[in-house]
Amino acid sequence: MASITLNPARSKGVISKNIYGHFSEHLGRCIYQGFFVGKDSPIPNVNGIRKDLVEAMKKIRMPVLRWPGGCFADEYHWEDGVGPQENRKRMVNTNWGGVVEDNSFGTHEFLELCEQIGCEPYINANVGSGTVREMAEWVEYLNSEGDSTVVRRRWANGRKEPWGVKYWGVGNESWGCGGHMRPEYYADEYRRYQTYCRNYGKHRLYRIACGPNVADYNWMDVLMQRAASHMDAITLHYYTLCDDTWDHKGPATGFTAADFYKTLVRASRMEELVIRHSAIMDKYDPARRVGLIVDEWGAWYDVEPGTNPGFLYQQNTMRDAMVAAITLNIFNQHCDRVVMANLAQTVNVLQAVALTEGDRLVLTPTYHVFDLYKAHQDAKEVDCFVQADSVGEGEWQMPQLTASASEKDGVITVTAANLAADKPVSVSIDGVTAGEVSVRILKGEMGQYNDFDHSPLSVKDYDGFTIAGGKLTVELPACCVAEITIK
Ligand code: AHR
Repeated sequence: MASITLNPARSKGVISKNIYGHFSEHLGRCIYQGFFVGKDSPIPNVNGIRKDLVEAMKKIRMPVLRWPGGCFADEYHWEDGVGPQENRKRMVNTNWGGVVEDNSFGTHEFLELCEQIGCEPYINANVGSGTVREMAEWVEYLNSEGDSTVVRRRWANGRKEPWGVKYWGVGNESWGCGGHMRPEYYADEYRRYQTYCRNYGKHRLYRIACGPNVADYNWMDVLMQRAASHMDAITLHYYTLCDDTWDHKGPATGFTAADFYKTLVRASRMEELVIRHSAIMDKYDPARRVGLIVDEWGAWYDVEPGTNPGFLYQQNTMRDAMVAAITLNIFNQHCDRVVMANLAQTVNVLQAVALTEGDRLVLTPTYHVFDLYKAHQDAKEVDCFVQADSVGEGEWQMPQLTASASEKDGVITVTAANLAADKPVSVSIDGVTAGEVSVRILKGEMGQYNDFDHSPLSVKDYDGFTIAGGKLTVELPACCVAEITIK
């Protein structure tokens, strides 16, 4: 038996819809073959962008998409990706697989992709190998209405109106692939670069500084101390590995129960990271004006055997659905600081929500979690206290249940996951009187996944609950994620 006690009178505020954001990099088959197949492809597309993927992203209400990287961002020069396709510069993607990047997907294509999905663009610009002028002119190209040479170029390339891009990242992983900088140095560089990223007319930039890797609390401290007043948000990157090293992260499928629990316990570490980084931010920003953006998160395993190691292609099982459920519950519960998050990466890379092969598309268990959680977007967080037994193997133990809750238009949504691989749990939902209830569920065995020939996992309506005198009890099967709607 476990319980979730709701207290609708207590809330940390609104859960930004941007917590349900995604990330797309010029890496492996994320952009090319994932989102973009080109106008001449036999795969159904609108201006080269896959229709099936756009439809799938609209269904989960993708709110924001980060691009062009990742490590790729700091070697990306935006001017190489605008203008007639035949004139675009070819380069070798030295970060990811050494393949030729023909720049056929550039600024206009990305912004059209966002328009087709109906999401906000989040552009991460180049500090590592770019110049201040280059970054400043990209903002001008995107957002200015002035009659300048840069803006005339946009007109000549077919776009009269500025796009009004808001979310603006100044460098990616500047402590690593983005330039191996020290925090003191990057703080100064950040201040300098962002100075020339102008606000044009009504288009105000939301400036995002590169934050720490995992538990680098010193990076957070230095950046907040030296540059907080020049930023709207700062980032955090944390990936969940199964095994201990980057050389042996563990396979995405065919894992043991011990691996399952180890991965989930490691995913749960996100809470400690958010709390500790947030406490440092509080020192310099007690009013919590500066947001925390976890713009890279997700499970990272060894690539699928036989695939290009630089393409980071991995399958996605119910274990990943659990990683997503745990992580999104943590973000919801810390919505007073976490203002955006971007799962890495949308399609064909790392913890993808979709996989493609030619004209075929598979929605992964992680996709279905985003579907189950979408009611939280822009809803008021509701205080939610979980009591559950421990589950796990050996030293890898955690509570069997994870949950978060929100309220919108008089409807309470609870999202909960039973993290036990093989034990159901009966969950009493306390603190509210249940009238009308509906439950949707994703369930399967821990190692199950969807692939191109067989997709057993999807969201289903579920009637395994009882209401007695207004008291709701939900029977959660082993290894499941549920959305519980209470009116
Ligand atoms: O998402 C893959 C890579 O992980 C990104 O390019 C980089 O920012 C991070 O190290």
